[in-house]
Amino acid sequence: MTNRLSSFLVAATAACVAVACGPAAVDSPEVSLARGTVNSGTGMVVSAYPDASQAGAEVLRAGGNAVDAAIATGLALAVTHPTAGNIGGGGFMVIRFPDGTSTVFDFREKAPLAAHPEMFVGEDGEYSSRIHHRSHLAVGVPGTVAGFALAHETYGAASWGELVDPAVGLARDGFEVSERLARSLAGRLEAFQDYPATHAQFSRDGVPYQAGETLVQADLAATLERIRDQGRDGFYSGVTARLLAEEMARGGGWITEEDLARYEAREREPVRGTYRGYEIISMAPPSSGGTALVEMLNVLEGFDVAATGPGNPETAHLLIEAMRRGFRDRALLLADPDFVEVPVGRLTSKAYADEIRGTIQAGAASVSDPGDVDGMPGWESTETTHYSVVDGDGMAVSVTYTLEGGYGSYITVPGAGFLLNNEMGDFNGRPGLTNERGLIGTEPNLARPEQRMLSSMTPTIVARDGELVAVIGSPGGRTIINTVLHLVVNLVDFGQSPEEVVASKRLHHQWLPDVARLEDGYMSADDAAVLEAMGHVISWGRGQGIAHCIFVDPDSGDLVGVPDPRDTDGAAAGY
Ligand code: DON
Repeated sequence: MTNRLSSFLVAATAACVAVACGPAAVDSPEVSLARGTVNSGTGMVVSAYPDASQAGAEVLRAGGNAVDAAIATGLALAVTHPTAGNIGGGGFMVIRFPDGTSTVFDFREKAPLAAHPEMFVGEDGEYSSRIHHRSHLAVGVPGTVAGFALAHETYGAASWGELVDPAVGLARDGFEVSERLARSLAGRLEAFQDYPATHAQFSRDGVPYQAGETLVQADLAATLERIRDQGRDGFYSGVTARLLAEEMARGGGWITEEDLARYEAREREPVRGTYRGYEIISMAPPSSGGTALVEMLNVLEGFDVAATGPGNPETAHLLIEAMRRGFRDRALLLADPDFVEVPVGRLTSKAYADEIRGTIQAGAASVSDPGDVDGMPGWESTETTHYSVVDGDGMAVSVTYTLEGGYGSYITVPGAGFLLNNEMGDFNGRPGLTNERGLIGTEPNLARPEQRMLSSMTPTIVARDGELVAVIGSPGGRTIINTVLHLVVNLVDFGQSPEEVVASKRLHHQWLPDVARLEDGYMSADDAAVLEAMGHVISWGRGQGIAHCIFVDPDSGDLVGVPDPRDTDGAAAGY
């Protein structure tokens, strides 16, 4: 298989560079690649960039399994989708095997050894949002390469080098910049001026890339080659680790070569639940995603939302009330389980849902009480990326990973060509500090040496009667959990088609601020007035989430890859 895979990948990479994987969707003879729905009986990858979906599908076609394809796709996204694709960040991978068993990998970033809960306080003794979110201290010890290496070592079938090679090719030979990426890079160029290595990497001598031009990242290619040749050591020790630690020391960051050497990804037990007979397999802490998702679904299970239907004020009321309760518990109780005891079993039990469902009144909004946890979580940015993979044996992989903000900390490691995350911003800012601007100061999620910061990422797999049904997930900070909630409800309660499940409008409520944010077009003005009359405060907003999903057609058993139409770069690749 190894040689066969190599030759396919060389051909695929060359094809990508020439024409096949640029912004215009083009079918290679063997892989169907499209910006819209793709059907396939064999294997499928849906991700945020065509070249990355193609790289994953080529791995599947050559005999790699879904874990292999997920790794190849993730590494290709680190080249082609720099807002969120990464080797300098972290995330989660949920796997369901063909026999119905499942597992998850946690490669969330960690705080460095020198971290402490007061580390985001400036010289004036005050909490500093800048230090917390946009400084060298905002960078967590990256987890992606360790996570991919561990997943590969444990469940991969292809050779590691063959999974890294497509990314090396895309970085070394370049890839065609899409309109969306060109716009995104041009929009950040001024901000990048404070980060010379980033400015140099993502512009042509200060001139923005145009759509259709080729973006080459030579330093990134060299780093990826080290990762290809040395595995995780190519990132966590040697040249790459030294360059990263040097940049940290230069900019006042605290990550050292020791922090990098000590980083380990973890295989954990998934969070599992059921919803009207469907099995939900999702991410465990340190993500709050799976726990809050199952809690909210359990609450909704006691209501007939299928009867009221999508976009209806009563349905919206029930969704909001379930979200309010799920997010309250998230703020109060969830954090890194290696540091804090998290009551996942209780929060995801049907009995607990029965208890909190009883506090929901028909047609009348509850009130969110900040006193419950002495603080308020705030809104988050929307720059993460989710992708879905299914192979010919029915192995399914759901991955969400991130740099946190778009382009993370904006810091590219000089000489190593990859962006660093600003994930430390997901820790609470300062013990006891809570305020109206959205800070929360509760204990569980404070920065401590080697603790992982709480996440909302919710890569999820749905099954029924032992059969795979869907692979789902989304970016969007805290909105992620609610986006995934909508996907499940759309599928299970509303019986929507795969395209409708993904495209339907969504809403978000996160307990505090006590406002429901509705996607434009979620409901009519008259229905919104009914919702407001129940006591809900609503606001309208842009697209919520980017759900690149795969569904199994219940009649034919075919895979249906559906990129979210909210993202013009998203692409499905089936073979
Ligand atoms: O882990 C989290 O929940 C956040 N750091 C994810 C950030 C995010 O989703 C931003 N964009 N989509």
